[in-house]
Amino acid sequence: MGSKLQIDSILRPEVLVIGAGGAGLRCAAEICERRQDTSVVVVTKVYSPQKSHTAAAQGGMAAVDPNDPVDKVLYHMFDTWKGSDCSSDQNIIKKVCESAWEQILWLERRGMHFSRTEEGRIAKRPFGGHMLNFGEVKAFRACYEADRTGKGIMDTVWAESLKHGVVSLNQSVATELLFRNGRCIGAIVFMEQNGKFVAVLAKATVMATGGKTRMYQVSSNCRQNTGDGLALMLQAGLPVMDLEAVQFHPTGIVGPGILASEALRGEGGILRNKDDEPFMERYAPTAKDLAPRDLVSRCIMTEIREGRGCIHADHKLPHVWLDLRHLPEHIHKTRIQEVCSFFCRFVGVEPQSQLCPVTPTAHYQMGGAPTNEFGEVQRDAQQIVPGLYACGEFAAASLHGHNRLGTNSLLELITMGKVVGKRVSAYLDEAEDPGNLPQDAGQHIFGQFSDYLETQGRGRYSEIRDDLRILMTAKVGVFRNEQILREAIERLKELKERAGEIELTSKSLVMNQSLVQLWELHHLLDVSMVIASGALSRKESRGAHYREDYPERSSEFQYHTLAYMTEFGEVTLGRRPIDMSIFEARGEHYEKFGIIERKY
Ligand code: FUM
Repeated sequence: MGSKLQIDSILRPEVLVIGAGGAGLRCAAEICERRQDTSVVVVTKVYSPQKSHTAAAQGGMAAVDPNDPVDKVLYHMFDTWKGSDCSSDQNIIKKVCESAWEQILWLERRGMHFSRTEEGRIAKRPFGGHMLNFGEVKAFRACYEADRTGKGIMDTVWAESLKHGVVSLNQSVATELLFRNGRCIGAIVFMEQNGKFVAVLAKATVMATGGKTRMYQVSSNCRQNTGDGLALMLQAGLPVMDLEAVQFHPTGIVGPGILASEALRGEGGILRNKDDEPFMERYAPTAKDLAPRDLVSRCIMTEIREGRGCIHADHKLPHVWLDLRHLPEHIHKTRIQEVCSFFCRFVGVEPQSQLCPVTPTAHYQMGGAPTNEFGEVQRDAQQIVPGLYACGEFAAASLHGHNRLGTNSLLELITMGKVVGKRVSAYLDEAEDPGNLPQDAGQHIFGQFSDYLETQGRGRYSEIRDDLRILMTAKVGVFRNEQILREAIERLKELKERAGEIELTSKSLVMNQSLVQLWELHHLLDVSMVIASGALSRKESRGAHYREDYPERSSEFQYHTLAYMTEFGEVTLGRRPIDMSIFEARGEHYEKFGIIERKY
C-alpha cells in the first residue's frame, strides 16, 4: 500500500497556517493587513473554520482599559505571574497584558458585539485570580459577549480572513512537516473529503492547532483536539514544553464535561457540597469561588474524596453543585443564557430553580510548542527553527506557566496571533523560496497510513481509547504521585502496542473516519506519554501539576520542561529558563514579580 500512496498536487502559498481557530485566523488577518497581496492557505480539521474550538469559549477575554479608574495593567501582570505559580515568562506577560486593550479594540472595530454597560461601555466581569491592588479584591477585567465570547471572536476573525481572500482547506489534517536544511518549508496535508495528499510548500508555516485534552474521560475540548500538532513536532525531533501542566476547569457539566463557564461564578454562582456548604470559603478565604482554577479543582476533588460530594443519578459520576438559583432574572436571561441551556439539555436541570451538577473537566494545555516572544518555534532553549512559528493554545511562549487564569487564553490567542502575523510579515520580505518538494516528502505519513490500512489484528479502537481515558484520569489527573505515574507509563506502553493491532474495516482513503481516528489515537498516546513523563520528573507541585508526594513548590524545578520523543516511550527531557525580566529590571513593584507566596 505504501507505494500506492502519493502526493496528488502541490500548493505554493507564501504562508501556510495549520489550524484555523482564533489564533490561526488572527495571525492570517495580521499578515494580510500588513502585506495586502500575501497568499495564505489555512488548514482546518473541521467542516468550516467557524466550527473551530475557539467558538466554544464562553466567559471572556481579559484586558485592562487604560481609562479604568481602578484597574491597572500592572495588576493584570501580577495576577498572571502569581496565577502561573511563578512559572510563566515575564517578557511575555508584559507584552500580552500591555497590548490587551488594543486587541479588544481591534476586534470591536471589526464588528465584534461585546456586551455593553448601560452607559454603552464594553462590559466586564470578574474571573478567578484576577484582582485589584496585587490580590486584594476581585477585578472586573473580562470583556465578553454574553456567554459566547469565543463565537464572537470566531465570527470576527473568519470574516477578516474571507475579506482578505485566505484560502481554507477544510476537513484536512497536516500529517508531516517538511524541512530543508533545518528550515521549515511547509507540510503534507491529507484531505479527508477526497482522500488525497497535498504538499503545501510555503516560506513560512504557522502552527495553531489548539489544545489536546481528549485523552481524559471528562474533557471540555471538542473531539478534534487530539494533539496532532504536538505529535508532528515530536516526529520532527522538536521539543514540546511543560505538557505536564494540564488545566482541569473546575466546572464541567457532569457527564459530557462541557464547559460551564467560570463566568457563572463571576456573576455570583456559588459552589456547594452535598451538605449545601459553600466550601470554597474554607480553602480560599479571600478569593472564595473565584480562586484560580487549579486550586478550585483540587478543592472540588478533595470534597469528593472526603465524602462530601454527590453521585449523579444518571451518569453515576461524582460531582458537587453549582448554585445559580439566587442570581437575578436579568443575569440568567442576558448574560448566561446559553450555558444555562446546556444544563437543561445535557442533565435536565433548570438552573434558575435547581442546583447544577459540576465536576472538574480537562480543559486546556498550558504548555505546547516552545516559542520565543515572537512566536518563533524553538529547537532548544537557544535556537529557533527558521520558517516555523506557533501561536494560540498550541504554543507555549509562555504566558501561563503551570496554571492559566480564565480569560487569559482568548487574550493570548488574539495577542500572540497578531505578534506572529507581524513577525511572519517581516520574515516574508527576506525569506527564501521553499524550492522543490524534498524527495522523501510524504514517506513518513505514507508509511503510517499503510501500516494502519494493512494491519490485521484484534485491537479494538473504542476499547483502547476508553482505557486511555480512564488511565489518564485516574493516574495523570488532578492528583498525581510517583507510583501511579510509573504505572501510567507502563500501561501506556501496553496501550500503544494494542493500538498497533487495530484492524480497520474500511480500507478507503476517502472520508474514512476510522483511519483518521486511529491516526489521532496514536497522537493521544504519544502526547499522554510525554505528559506522564514530564509529571514524573517534576518532583514538586506547581500550578495545575499537583504531586501528593511533593505537595510544595520547589526552587529546584524553577524551569520549563522541554521534552523530546522520536521513539514511543523514549522521552528525553531538557530545560528552558523562566524569564524574570520584570523582576530583574527592578522597576516599581518589581518585588511582586519575585518568587512569591501563592495564597488566595
Ligand atoms: O470559564 C470559561 O468561560 C473559560 C474561559 C477560559 O478558559 O479562559
